[in-house]
Amino acid sequence: MTERPHQLAMLGGPRAVPPETAAPRWPVVTRGDEEAVARVLTGGRLTATAEGEEEVPGLEREWAAYTGTAHCAAVGSGTAALQLALAALGVGPGDEVVVPAVSMNATALAVVQQGARPVFADIDPETYTMDPDAVRAVAGPRTKALLPVHLHGLPADMDALRTIAAELGAAVVEDAAQSHGAAHRGRRTGALGTVGCFSLHPSKNLPTCGEGGLLTTDDPDIHERVLRLRQFGEDPRPRRTRSYVSHIAGWNHRIGPVEAAFARSQLARLDEYGRRRAPGVLAFLDRLASLPGLLVPVVPKGSVHAWHILRFRLDPQALGLADEDAAALRRALHRALRAEGVPVSRYQEEPLPAHPAFTPHVPAGARFPVARAVLTDSLCLQRRHLDPGSGPVLAAYADGFEKVWQHLDLIRRMVRSASPAARGRQEVSAV
Ligand SMILES: Cc1ncc(COP(=O)(O)O)c(C=O)c1O
Repeated sequence: MTERPHQLAMLGGPRAVPPETAAPRWPVVTRGDEEAVARVLTGGRLTATAEGEEEVPGLEREWAAYTGTAHCAAVGSGTAALQLALAALGVGPGDEVVVPAVSMNATALAVVQQGARPVFADIDPETYTMDPDAVRAVAGPRTKALLPVHLHGLPADMDALRTIAAELGAAVVEDAAQSHGAAHRGRRTGALGTVGCFSLHPSKNLPTCGEGGLLTTDDPDIHERVLRLRQFGEDPRPRRTRSYVSHIAGWNHRIGPVEAAFARSQLARLDEYGRRRAPGVLAFLDRLASLPGLLVPVVPKGSVHAWHILRFRLDPQALGLADEDAAALRRALHRALRAEGVPVSRYQEEPLPAHPAFTPHVPAGARFPVARAVLTDSLCLQRRHLDPGSGPVLAAYADGFEKVWQHLDLIRRMVRSASPAARGRQEVSAV
């Protein structure tokens, strides 16, 4: 005799993830991280330009070695890294930069802030990264750079994108903000294009204790320009008395030694965390893969995924519903799963070309059907799986998914009863 499933938590039943289960915290902060920061505070060298400051150059050396690139510049944020990369490449008014239709807003903002035009390319329905065919369709003689994003920690299709860029004579700027440690054909992200841009935001796989970013390149001229642009356009050569003369119009995009020291301390554990995280994530995905109508992340051959964000697409047809029901299905599962204690969320509610800041750059009639579909029919897991000790919590989340899937009849009824008016209503995210 099969056991009757427990009532769903949203209807008053017991939660699949017991309320006393501590939500994993990210970043994991160790005594070593605290000591690294404390050493900077007691040492008194609180800015990157303080004489004898070693944390910022140390982080740069270590990240260049880690990514296998010749140069690294540590900067104030991932956004600053993107701005500096585009500026160092000479991207400006009249130029176009091809950007994927799904990313965090900073990817396209960096282009607009250079006075250039972001040209959006749709994404691949399985990898969620920029689709090379879509890039070919929108790129042209004004294309100065391609700006692929290794979204969620999976490298974009770099072989195809590099080929397109070479045909166009364009640069490739990797937005690697989410992909520390990911790799493509044995090379780490940050070493796959002309310039690599990373974020050190505390939500990222390599976090700092504030804001920070890293920029990698093999090109010494680009590196030199980045160093100038990072510090007011001055000649930044170390061990020279600072003149405060601006040779070009730069910014203050420096990182501080406290953030650099914390990031270095985390970097020492980046690979170990990645190794320990993977089995829990894979076991979780394995269990979810057997649920009908739920599509788990894929890893194309030759790629290493950094598992920064886990995205799950929902297939209404596989659940006996119509394609138009995708949003209502997502909403019903979002509600049911969160009630069970599974903290699913939406990552990005709108494709970039629909953001008011970017719509003036979008040609009339341009459509991004895959981006729109993916953001409508998927839910994500963010941060909770990053702690390398999250395996047991992920197993409890899998219990939550399996329990909700035992009540698909009810979920279907919820979806079918959603009125057309409710379906069309503006959706509010519970991220
Ligand atoms: C894909 C992507 N690009 C750029 C950024 C910007 O990085 P930051 O927040 O460090 O400025 C982020 C971070 O949120 C990101 O996820």
